[in-house]
Amino acid sequence: MTETKIWTVNEMDAAARAIQRGSLVAFPTETVYGLGADAYNEKAVGKVYAAKGRPSDNPLIVHVADPEQVSDFAIVNERAQKLMSAYWPGPLTMILPVKPGVLSMTVTGGLDTVAVRLPDNDATRQLIRESGKPLVGPSANTSGKPSPTLAKHVYHDLHGKIAGILDDGPTKIGVESTVLDLSSDMPAVLRPGKITPAQIEAVIGMAIDSEVHHVADDETPKAPGMKYRHYAPDKAVYMVAPEDWTQAIIWMQSQLEPVGLMLTNDLIEKHQLAGMDFIWSLGDNNDTAAAKLFAGLRYFDDKKDVQTILVAAMPQVDVNGAYNNRLGKASGGHWISELLHV
Ligand code: TXA
Ligand code: MG
Repeated sequence: MTETKIWTVNEMDAAARAIQRGSLVAFPTETVYGLGADAYNEKAVGKVYAAKGRPSDNPLIVHVADPEQVSDFAIVNERAQKLMSAYWPGPLTMILPVKPGVLSMTVTGGLDTVAVRLPDNDATRQLIRESGKPLVGPSANTSGKPSPTLAKHVYHDLHGKIAGILDDGPTKIGVESTVLDLSSDMPAVLRPGKITPAQIEAVIGMAIDSEVHHVADDETPKAPGMKYRHYAPDKAVYMVAPEDWTQAIIWMQSQLEPVGLMLTNDLIEKHQLAGMDFIWSLGDNNDTAAAKLFAGLRYFDDKKDVQTILVAAMPQVDVNGAYNNRLGKASGGHWISELLHV
């Protein structure tokens, strides 16, 4: 068992040395914490899968500190170039054709493409520069669990399995980056994130496919990660549409065990829930809701008495794409209305 250190950003040297030794270091980004290893060290990358319990066919994102670093291992096309200028550093991951023979199959899952991203976090870009290596970085959670937005979430899931965590406080965005496939003629969003399809279309000047992340049970998803259960606490999670909260609260009051409620402040006020136990505020707007979603799911997951969590679904508009996508997965697609109208 490894003792897992928690490093401040001033202890960067220790974190960089650990990466160079082939150890695992969790790093902050603007989206969620990532589990870092030297992308050129096959053995280190293998440890990432083991620590997370991640299926080996689910490829990793390679994180760089500078756009120029990407051409060491991937083929950068014109669309990618434009999007890098517009949105990097930032929450946009691009899938590009991989250069043969540079990265191991462990990174790419044997695909002929690779996912790349330049995170908007100074400490992590410094870590990449100091260690001299691009870093693979899946979200730093146990596979299937909500992604970590605080160092303590990483510690909860991975202590004893990784060398350390570079702690830079709460992540700002709270849901993972947009994953955009640029490896074929038709660009396609494989995972919705903060950067919306409209923002991408505005930069590359063409319509893109923004629906491919809706995958039916019998289809093979383009992002291998999408076929696995995701973001899911051990407790039952139900989505609640705005018009169902009155009924949902009556249902909650009829339960023997406490029910966790996750909702925005306007709903807390409207339903006079302020000050009650088992309430997790999602803040005032769609940005705060995304930032607080995973932390709330983890909070109730750790509460022994709570068996059920009700979470506010947000209006189906572009800016809520990532929030509703993660909540949809965490809940397995279940709505409280299924329990109300029986
Ligand atoms: O915000 C983020 O993207 C975070 C932070 C740490 O950077 N990282 C993250 O990584 O969410 P991960 O591994 O949890 O999710 C990466 C997703 C997975 O669904 C994976 O299947 C997909 O990207 N992916 C990676 N490489 C791919 C490829 N070559 N082709 C298609 N999908 C790929
Ligand atoms: Mg993940």
